[in-house]
Amino acid sequence: MAFNGETTAFIGVGVMGEAMIKGVLSQRLLAPENIVAADPRRERLDMLRERYGIQVTTDNAAAASAADILVLSVKPQVMEAVLPELRGQVDRLRLILSIVAGVTLKTISENLLNARVVRSMPNTPGQIGSGITVWTASPDVGAEARAQAEALLGAMGERIYAADERYLDMATALSGSGPAYVFMFMEALVDAGVHMGFARRDAEKLVTQTLLGSVRYAQQSGLHPAQLRNQVTSPGGTTAAALHEMEKGGLRTVLSEGVWAAYRRSQALGDIPD
Ligand SMILES: NC(=O)c1ccc[n+]([C@@H]2O[C@H](COP(=O)([O-])OP(=O)(O)OC[C@H]3O[C@@H](n4cnc5c(N)ncnc54)[C@H](OP(=O)(O)O)[C@@H]3O)[C@@H](O)[C@H]2O)c1
Repeated sequence: MAFNGETTAFIGVGVMGEAMIKGVLSQRLLAPENIVAADPRRERLDMLRERYGIQVTTDNAAAASAADILVLSVKPQVMEAVLPELRGQVDRLRLILSIVAGVTLKTISENLLNARVVRSMPNTPGQIGSGITVWTASPDVGAEARAQAEALLGAMGERIYAADERYLDMATALSGSGPAYVFMFMEALVDAGVHMGFARRDAEKLVTQTLLGSVRYAQQSGLHPAQLRNQVTSPGGTTAAALHEMEKGGLRTVLSEGVWAAYRRSQALGDIPD
């Protein structure tokens, strides 16, 4: 059992903070009374208290000072305001777990005067336990705290540990932002279906099941994507015609450039003064 009645405070409980709380409660890792949610909006806090039975507050410093474990789940742009509020409240904690894009272990530990920091990058399918998180830890995080961080992140789905922090910005660009690329791809295919004449609900069903089935098939077959693509591509056929147009439009290059842009942006977000 990774936890022993520790109080865990979440600073900023939006989409991702709530996903983690929901997963942690459904896996019974923590009891509702051991979770404190700190967020600026009263109505949001009332809803969280009603839905999950957790403690809530608008006071970040008070939440942090009462906690054994701190989760940072605010937007990167808000970190500059939040870190000074927490400074001096969290130096005794054995685990500070950040899911904030771009912000480095060094920035967090120097601003919070505590080097026991785990940095992670989950993604939004974590809301239904189907996410994937890449995480890394500073050398000061002990074995027990590492197990607790893994358990908290595991409540949202799969995990990959990275010994080198550089992989966090890469994961931000690939799997953190990744669902948005997939949703845009879905939207574009559905719109193409509607453009040809399908009812929207039929186009949505065709696209969703095609994506779901293709991903499952790729996972189960273990074949290289190029082999799977070749299975669908007959000489002189319809798929070849479509792929030719997609290659001509630079689909692969656009995807690669997009991922690189996200990587550079994630690196830039980390530039908070110490
Ligand atoms: N969404 C993703 O796909 C994703 C994936 C991986 C990691 N992340 C990371 O997860 C973090 C949270 O993202 P999110 O999508 O959950 O964002 P979000 O839904 O906007 O949640 C952030 C929460 O923080 C609250 N907040 C704002 N200012 C605050 C303050 N000073 N103190 C305490 N709370 C404050 C916000 O309240 P208001 O709404 O009232 O401002 C909101 O409820 C980000 O750093 C992001 O990089 C996001």
